[in-house]
Amino acid sequence: MRQRARYCPGESQAVKRAFIIFIAGTALLFGFLVIVIVLNESENDTSALATSTVANFVDPQTRGAYLARAGNCAGCHTVQGGQPYAGGRELPTPFGTFVTPNITPHHVSGIGIWTAQDFWRAMQHGKGRDGKLLYPAFPYTEYTKVTREDSDAIFSYLQTIAPAENAVAPDRLRFPYNIRALLYVWRALYFKPGAYELVANQTPEWNRGAYLVQGLGHCNACHATRNALGAAGGAALGGGQVAGHSWYAPSLTSRAEAGNADVPIEEIIALLSTGQSSKTAASGPMAEVIWQSLQHLSAPDVRAMAVYLKSLPDSSAAKSAPSELTADARQRIAKGSKIYEKHCKDCHGTAGEGAPGAYPPLADNRSVTLPSPLNTIRSVLDGGFAPSTASNPRPYGMPPFAHSLSSEEVALVVSYARNSWGNRASLVTAVEVDKTGSD
Ligand code: HEC
Ligand code: HEC
Ligand code: HEC
Repeated sequence: MRQRARYCPGESQAVKRAFIIFIAGTALLFGFLVIVIVLNESENDTSALATSTVANFVDPQTRGAYLARAGNCAGCHTVQGGQPYAGGRELPTPFGTFVTPNITPHHVSGIGIWTAQDFWRAMQHGKGRDGKLLYPAFPYTEYTKVTREDSDAIFSYLQTIAPAENAVAPDRLRFPYNIRALLYVWRALYFKPGAYELVANQTPEWNRGAYLVQGLGHCNACHATRNALGAAGGAALGGGQVAGHSWYAPSLTSRAEAGNADVPIEEIIALLSTGQSSKTAASGPMAEVIWQSLQHLSAPDVRAMAVYLKSLPDSSAAKSAPSELTADARQRIAKGSKIYEKHCKDCHGTAGEGAPGAYPPLADNRSVTLPSPLNTIRSVLDGGFAPSTASNPRPYGMPPFAHSLSSEEVALVVSYARNSWGNRASLVTAVEVDKTGSD
């Protein structure tokens, strides 16, 4: 060995290099582990924030009930027709199916033996009572912004509801996602705990809106792209497909999608609180968010959210002039117009103008001209209702066309709607309609 080393200096160099790489690698790995552990263990309570405009509630329980609505906790923790908060709802994701836990105060199957501190740890740090790391399917990546005071209020409300004896089935996650310990690494990479911090040069109203949108409202849980490990990537509120659904949640910053920089404040408020504005209607998962959560918020809170959303700087790329439609495209659009006349015109109008308060316009409606045609195809296939709200208890509906129109016909009529009355967006093919699948 020594002899070879002496005669082959190159090899000795290689051995030395390998050794250095080994040491450096080990040090790096060790450093990474230390960071992972430190990030997972630090549980400093970040500063409390007194921006609440709901402080005039008489008791913390009523306040907690309101805040639980703002966080739409019942939306995920309730099965259809089941007792609110008793858990058991299945949430399909690319990693497998989560089954939400029971968060009623039942001592065995719920969170009856939890303390306010345990609950705070779940909200701010994504950890269960026994320190178990929780999956971010529970949007603690957003709820971490919630203040201690608000977390305590939600907890005291949850402790007052009727305990439900409902032991829920275990999650059905695929390997390797079913290994909870891997969340140590995930959290080190993607999770930064910390309550919302006031932005000094903004108004209390703006801060309140930011707090609700970024925290309890967990808008970013849907309105952002997800990477292969399910972490929200890309720009905040930059738009993305909703996990487990074939719906696209548009960018809330881009003018070309659902950005609000140019939208009058009253229109934003109308959409968030009733699911309809003069330009568009909320559909699918967004209609549910409004039905279960946003319509119950106080007028000042909805206005605060609208103020914040309107202030977000526009992120869209400069619009290039649309190219000429080819003869083939014009032909497809003409075919689509026949289908529109027969099946859509009665509600949405000859010029796509809709009918105020009943049928949304399709002309000059950004939901129709989104770069991704997914939601428009979804609307035509499934039909739907705008959310039922106090001001609009019996919304008009749209029938599903999945059984009465072929994929080709859906493609043609959607292409027509996306390219008529001043609208301009990509044409759609039957293959795209088939790929949309069912929600
Ligand atoms: C998008 C769906 C979703 C929403 C919204 C949601 N949760 Fe959950 N929650 C989950 C899932 C999924 C889990 C289980 C995570 C796991 O198994 O690691 C969970 C876990 C929990 C836990 C831990 C329970 C236990 O037994 O360990 C608590 C507490 C909780 N949620 C409270 C809330 C509260 C309070 C809200 C509203 C502010 C809320 N959740 C909103 C999906 C949701
Ligand atoms: C469960 C997923 C989900 C959550 C949570 C969610 N959204 Fe949405 N949102 C969607 C989807 C999907 C659409 C597209 C369907 C549509 O246009 O209504 C949408 C559309 C919108 C639109 C455009 C509506 C239109 O028709 O032009 C706005 C504005 C919006 N969301 C705001 C919000 C805000 C603010 C929050 C947080 C308080 C939020 N969303 C939370 C899924 C979600
Ligand atoms: C009976 C009346 C009716 C008919 C017929 C009808 N719609 Fe609708 N449409 C509605 C209503 C009501 C809504 C709002 C539903 C919602 O918010 O989910 C809607 C929503 C839509 C949307 C989503 C708009 C938005 O702002 O998100 C699109 C796109 C659409 N319709 C296209 C069509 C096309 C294309 C046809 C014909 C194939 C059609 N509709 C036929 C009543 C109708």
